[in-house]
Amino acid sequence: MRVLDLIIKKRDGENLTAEEIEFLISEFTRDNIPDYQMSAFLMAVYFQGLNAKETTALTTALAKSGEMIDFSSLGSVVADKHSSGGVGDKVTLVLAPLVAAAGVPMAKIAGRGLGFTGGTIDKLESIPGFSARLPVEKFMELVRENNLAIMAQTERLTPADGKLYALRDVTGTVENISLIAASIMSKKIAAGAGAILLDVKMGKGAFLQNRDEAFHLAETMVRIGKEIDRRVVSVVTDMNQPLGLAVGNALELKEALAVLRGEGPADVEYLSILLGGYLLALAGKVRNPEEGQEVLSRLLKNGAALEKFKQFVHSQGGDVSCLEDPALLPEAKIIKTIKASKSGYLHEIDARKVGIAATILGAGRFVKNQAIDFSVGIVLNHKIGDMVSEDDILAYIHANNEELLNSALNELAGTFTIAEEAPEPLPLVYGVIPPFPS
Ligand code: URA
Repeated sequence: MRVLDLIIKKRDGENLTAEEIEFLISEFTRDNIPDYQMSAFLMAVYFQGLNAKETTALTTALAKSGEMIDFSSLGSVVADKHSSGGVGDKVTLVLAPLVAAAGVPMAKIAGRGLGFTGGTIDKLESIPGFSARLPVEKFMELVRENNLAIMAQTERLTPADGKLYALRDVTGTVENISLIAASIMSKKIAAGAGAILLDVKMGKGAFLQNRDEAFHLAETMVRIGKEIDRRVVSVVTDMNQPLGLAVGNALELKEALAVLRGEGPADVEYLSILLGGYLLALAGKVRNPEEGQEVLSRLLKNGAALEKFKQFVHSQGGDVSCLEDPALLPEAKIIKTIKASKSGYLHEIDARKVGIAATILGAGRFVKNQAIDFSVGIVLNHKIGDMVSEDDILAYIHANNEELLNSALNELAGTFTIAEEAPEPLPLVYGVIPPFPS
């Protein structure tokens, strides 16, 4: 088999066999395919797509590129949650300790930022000392002992996804349903999860803006789950405005801590409890999602989830004093405000522009392996639907560099739309697949 032939085959719209996909992924994992050829292949997939069979073959090849964890000796279903990527999406930081505190083991392989969206690993690494580069044995041990561990892809776990993810991030090949589905599901399969909750983001700040595409992604991942005998539920949720108020790694961590203390933005708390409730029901811990949501609301209120988060951070080397005093987390040197140009109702906060501006400030990457500035980002002062007066502060920009600050401000031009009439309220949830029996 020759890589060039397979690139041309896909470029010309033909279907690849499972063997051909397996060959591409295993050779790429072994560094036998250069980035320029893999980038060309990814771009061909971006334009020509993959059919259902090809998507399953890619998922399996990515999962099998490293070790496959088996948690069957644990005697209970292991849960996992993954978002398809959004701006300000810190739900995992709240949901994971909540679900673990409810007695369901959470074993998560998380990603770094992708395109203009943030990643759980980057957010956690803003805690001094925290490490997500766990050996597989340590990951399993922590899940067994604490009910919670979060690790990044390593050379041992889904290494092919790690390499492809980094390449897609910088080659404009993120926004493809098959590539997203295979990337997410391969990590879930390799991490040994039996109950999987997928948060499929839809809107300006997501990779998929269109309703049909978002539901197609949700269905594709549920189908892959069925084929490999895992319990999977996809919830399609809104990503037109950033989730919560904070965008940027340490800023989002602080906000997640506020939610765990019961003082955070309502949308982040609501979604964490809603999705967590589905996960408890999927894992068989409760009879239905509503019962799960009641359990989780209690664990948030009584501080059990915050304690679980602290235990988790400590067990992965993080400095817990930063969680008790978030002012110890990285902070930017410059804070600049954006003000309302007129009075009225906020109709739009373009999440994509906010995500790109945060990336420009240094919260994300434009080239592979670029170092992250954990302290920078954007904190909104209002959400869509709020009434604002002229000169009210709409957002705080946290920066460390005047030049980057100015580029971010340019990107943010036109992000906030203000009008006289109140807008229709934005739904937070668009659908659940498959419909969940209550
Ligand atoms: N999250 C992932 O892990 N992969 C994607 O492709 C998108 C979001």
